[in-house]
Amino acid sequence: MIRLGTLDWGIAERKAIEELISGDNPILTMGLNVRKFESQFAKWIGCQYGVAVNSGTSAVITALNALKIKYECKDIWTTSLVYPAAWNAIQISQLTPRYVDINSETLNMDPSKIGGPFVLGVHLFGKPLRMDLRNDLIQVEDAAQALGSKIGNKRVGSFGAMGCFSFYVAHQITTIEGGMVTTNDKELADISRMLRDNGRICNCPICTLKTKGICPKRLTYDGERRWATDYVGFNLKPTEFQGVLGLVKMKKINKIVERRHQILQMYNDDLESLSLLKEESNEYICPLAYPIYVKHPMEVVNKLAKDNIECRGMFPARGDCPNAKHISKNSIMVPAHQNLTDEEVHYIIEKIKEAVT
Ligand SMILES: Cc1ncc(COP(=O)(O)O)c(C=O)c1O
Repeated sequence: MIRLGTLDWGIAERKAIEELISGDNPILTMGLNVRKFESQFAKWIGCQYGVAVNSGTSAVITALNALKIKYECKDIWTTSLVYPAAWNAIQISQLTPRYVDINSETLNMDPSKIGGPFVLGVHLFGKPLRMDLRNDLIQVEDAAQALGSKIGNKRVGSFGAMGCFSFYVAHQITTIEGGMVTTNDKELADISRMLRDNGRICNCPICTLKTKGICPKRLTYDGERRWATDYVGFNLKPTEFQGVLGLVKMKKINKIVERRHQILQMYNDDLESLSLLKEESNEYICPLAYPIYVKHPMEVVNKLAKDNIECRGMFPARGDCPNAKHISKNSIMVPAHQNLTDEEVHYIIEKIKEAVT
């Protein structure tokens, strides 16, 4: 079966895990490797700060709660077509979602229809949401599907007040489960670190990064300095397993992004009339999967399954949003991950053409 996503598990990943668990007393809870991954990832995105968490959903929850604390926002404008984690994060954060219809060409919400001022913007399937055209708004970017996509030379996740990423299996890089918040705002980064750890303050300059993973002050901190925050936090911390896997992926990330982009171009060259992921001249798209417009989606998914190609129906739609509802009922997504061979991509294209005729 050609899967929609792959675990991307090789010798380097296995070695990293073996090294992590060797020794008598390994630190496996969040520590030095997570810190290193945070700083390498943030730098790659083009941000000063990275805050690692245990999933992409947790990244969006953390970012929205940090936004709520800093700006006291209540309503969040967001897209009407997305994987439901984005909507769930809004409601878990006790914010009110205001759904904006999509542009059927881009599958992203139409920036001109956003009432603002607070936005959870989603780059669906890797297509950059053009929030650079709405600098008047304060945005959390949900870039869970778009790691590596760019507008001009700037990577998504570095445009808004905060960016959110997922490292779940089918995503561009995977730590099995995992996520990250990126930001250039120190206050939002500090709040995010507190929120992922039950409100605990840990922004001491002598951090674990400089001390081989163990904080020398941990036993001498008084209660006030250790816990003094009113924020209602969570426990969303990742483990060192995610830290070491993330560091392995940072060595592979450029190749992964390049290969996914190549596969997108192969699809677009051959399936232009069905494509729902076209690239404008100032964009660079790194796809999560490849969405196509089809009249009878479940029939096509079943036909492709018989040809050993795993596909999925489109995400659900919400709100009074006719474009989103139409696309949700008339499209599917097919594999576009980095481990597909050229032969497999050609095979998928051929079988899609057969299935839609
Ligand atoms: C747009 C979007 N946001 C958030 C998430 C949640 O990520 P995770 O599955 O890592 O919790 C996903 C997952 O696919 C997603 O597509």
